[in-house]
Amino acid sequence: MTPVRRRNTLCIVITLALGGGVSAILPAQTPAPRRNIDSLLARMTLEEKFGQLNLPSVDNRPSAEQLELLRKGLVGGFLNLTGAAATRETQRVAVTESRLGIPLLLGYDVIHGYRTTFPIPLAEASTWDPAAVEATAHAAAREAAAAGVNWTFAPMVDVARDPRWGRISEGAGEDPYLGSVLAAARVHGFQGADLRAPDAVMATAKHFAAYGGAEGGRDYNTVDVSERTLREIYLPPFRAAVEAGAGSIMTSFNEIAGTPSHANRWLVTALLRGEWKFSGLVVSDWTGVEELRGHGVAGSRADAGKLALETGVDMDMVSRIYVDDLPALVRAGRIPVATVDAAVRRVLAAKAALGLFDDPYHGATVEREQAVLLAPEHRKLAREVAREAIVLLRNEAALLPLTSARHTVAVIGPLADDKSAALGSWPGHGDPRDAITPLEGIRARAGEGTKVVYAKGCGITDSAAAGIADAVALARGADIAVLVLGEAGDMSGEAASRSTLGLPGVQEQLLEAVQGTGTPVVLVVMSGRPLAVAWAAEHVPAIVQAWQLGVETGHALADVLFGDVSPSGKLPVTVPRSVGQVPIYYNHKNTGRPPSAEKYTSKYIDLPVSPLFPFGYGLSYTSFEYKDLKLSAPSITPNGKLRVSVTVTNTGAREGAEVAQLYLHDEVASVTRPVRALAGFQRVPLKAGESRTVDFEVGAKQLGLYDQNMKFTVEPGRVRVFVGGSSVGGLEAEFEVRR
Ligand code: BGC
Repeated sequence: MTPVRRRNTLCIVITLALGGGVSAILPAQTPAPRRNIDSLLARMTLEEKFGQLNLPSVDNRPSAEQLELLRKGLVGGFLNLTGAAATRETQRVAVTESRLGIPLLLGYDVIHGYRTTFPIPLAEASTWDPAAVEATAHAAAREAAAAGVNWTFAPMVDVARDPRWGRISEGAGEDPYLGSVLAAARVHGFQGADLRAPDAVMATAKHFAAYGGAEGGRDYNTVDVSERTLREIYLPPFRAAVEAGAGSIMTSFNEIAGTPSHANRWLVTALLRGEWKFSGLVVSDWTGVEELRGHGVAGSRADAGKLALETGVDMDMVSRIYVDDLPALVRAGRIPVATVDAAVRRVLAAKAALGLFDDPYHGATVEREQAVLLAPEHRKLAREVAREAIVLLRNEAALLPLTSARHTVAVIGPLADDKSAALGSWPGHGDPRDAITPLEGIRARAGEGTKVVYAKGCGITDSAAAGIADAVALARGADIAVLVLGEAGDMSGEAASRSTLGLPGVQEQLLEAVQGTGTPVVLVVMSGRPLAVAWAAEHVPAIVQAWQLGVETGHALADVLFGDVSPSGKLPVTVPRSVGQVPIYYNHKNTGRPPSAEKYTSKYIDLPVSPLFPFGYGLSYTSFEYKDLKLSAPSITPNGKLRVSVTVTNTGAREGAEVAQLYLHDEVASVTRPVRALAGFQRVPLKAGESRTVDFEVGAKQLGLYDQNMKFTVEPGRVRVFVGGSSVGGLEAEFEVRR
C-alpha cells in the first residue's frame, strides 16, 4: 500500500442510463438466502451485475463521481473507506439511492490492528500462541467493524523463506505448519462464530499463491516453484484458512511458472474451488487484473478482464476493467453470462453472510466507534502479546534482566525513541503519537534509583556518523548500554525488499563503537525481518529480537528487559549469517551430499551452512529440561494416530513459558523429505520447579506426502521424532508406519 497510489483511483464517469428509484432490501434471513440472491440476480441488468464485481478504492471519501456510479448500481464495494460516519453515509446512498439498494462490501487492510496497533504478524508468530493471535485479530475486527469496515484483506498467509522480501513482516514466517495454525487462528479472530455479529469482519487469505517465493526476494517478482513445493510449503496455510471458513481469498501479483495468479485457472478454479471446495469470494489484488497486460498474457484491458473473470477472480480491485469493458464482451457472446452470474452470486452471498441485507451498517455507529477504538483492554492485550513476541537471542553471563545495581542506563540508537517505527509497516489507523517508544518504556519502568540517559547516535539509514562520539561518551559513563537498532517501519512490508540484511546506515559502526567502551551492551533489534547481525552475535553479550511491537512497544520491552516477565518468544524464521545464505530455512532437504568436512559436499567455502540463529530458537531467563519422551506405540498404520508425550520442567529459579516443539523426519520415502518438519507445538507456562507433560498427536496430516504422481499418501517406513525447544537438537525417538 502506498498513500500516493491510493489516490487517483476510480475517476472515470460511466454514463449508463439506469432506472432510478429506491430498492427493496432483502428480508432478514440466514444464512445467505439463495432464493433471494436468485431473485435479486434476475432483476439485475448486465451493468448492475458487473457493478457488483467492481471494487474501487476511495481517497479518504468517495468522490462525487464515485457516488454517482454507486447510485447507478456500478459499485459492489469500496476499499479504504473507513469511519462510522462516512461508511454509514455511503451505505445509506447504496441502499436508498441505487435502484436495487444492494449494500456495499467495505474492505480495509487490517493487518496488525485497526486503531490499536498490535505487533507485526511476524512478531505475533514469534509468540507461537494461537490464542493470542486470535485475540488480537478479534480486537482488530472489533475496532474495524465499529468503524464500518466489514471486510479485511488479512490474514496474509504467505510463507516466506527469503528475508530480503519486505512482506515477510506481514506473515507468519517460513513454516507451513506454524503458518497454518496461525492462519486459522486469525480467520477465527476476524470472523468469530457469526459474520453478522457487530464485532466480526470477513477475512481474506492472501496472496494466493506463492507470492513469498519471489526471485531474489524482490517484491512482485517472478516465482517458479514446483507443484510439490506449492503443495507442501506455500499452500497449506491457505488451505487452513479455507478450512477455518475464510470468506475470501485474494489472488497474488506474481506468476508461477509462467502463469500469473490472476489468470491461473488451475490454481483458482481447479484447486481452490474444485479440490478444496472453497465457495467464497475471490478478489483480485490492487490492479491485479490490469497487470495481466504487464505480465504479457493479455493484449488489451478487455482481454485481461475476460481472462481474470474466467479464471475465477470474482471482484476486480481498482482496475475497473470488469465494469468498463466486460459488458460488451458478454453482449458479443465472448463471455457466457453464467460466468458473470456465478461471480455476482458469490459477492451477494458474502454480503448476505455478513447480514448486510438486514443491517447494511453492520452495527457500526459513531458512539460504538468512539467507545471501541484504542480501548484500554485492547492496549492491555497489545502489551501482553508484545511481551510474548520478544525473542531473546543471546544472554551471556545473565546480563539480562537488568537489575537495580545498574544505576545508569544509557539508551542509545535511532530507534530508541522512534514512535512510527514501533508501529511497523502497516499500522492501519494506528497513530504514532500513541506509541510508547523503548526509551519511554524504559524510563517509565526504571524507577527511582536508576538514571536513564539517551543519545540517538545516528539516523536509521543516514551515512552521517558525527553523533556516534556523543553516544560513546554517554555509554562510557553508564553501567549498561541498551542499543535499539534496526529498521524503520517502512523498510519492510510491500515494495520494501532489501538486498542486504545488515543493520542499515552506520548503525553497525555505532554498535561496534559502543561495544568498544567496555560498558556491557544489550542490543535490541527492531526490524520487520530477521537481520544478519553476525558481528553482534559474537561480540555483544545480550541480543533481543523485538521486531516491531506496536503501540505498546516500549512497555512490553521494559517488562522483559527488567525481568517482570521472562522472554518466551521463539523465532518463526531462520536468521541467516549473511544474505549470501538466503534462501535459508530449517526444513530443507538433505541432498545427496549433505555438508561435512569432505570438500565435495553441499556448503560454502567462505561461510558455515548453519544459520546465525535457527528456526524455533529463543532463550528465557529460566531454563527448561525435556525428559521422558514417550510414544503411544512403536508402530502405526497409515491411517493411525500416535501420541507423543514429553515432560517439560522449569529447572531455573523463576517463572517462564517454554514452546515445546515436535518435529518429524521420514527417513526413506519415494520422494525426498525435509530433514525435519514441524508437526506440533505447545506453549507451556511453568513456575520455577514445575513440570508438565505435554502431548502431541501425530496422524496422516503430518505424516503424509505427495508422491511422484502428486497423490497425498502416507507411506510405510521409519519416522524419526524430535522434541525440544528449537529446530536443532532435542530428544529423539522413532516409530514405524506399517501397512
Ligand atoms: C497489496 C494487498 C492489499 C491491497 C489493498 C495491494 O497492493 O498487495 O496486500 O490488500 O493492496 O490495499
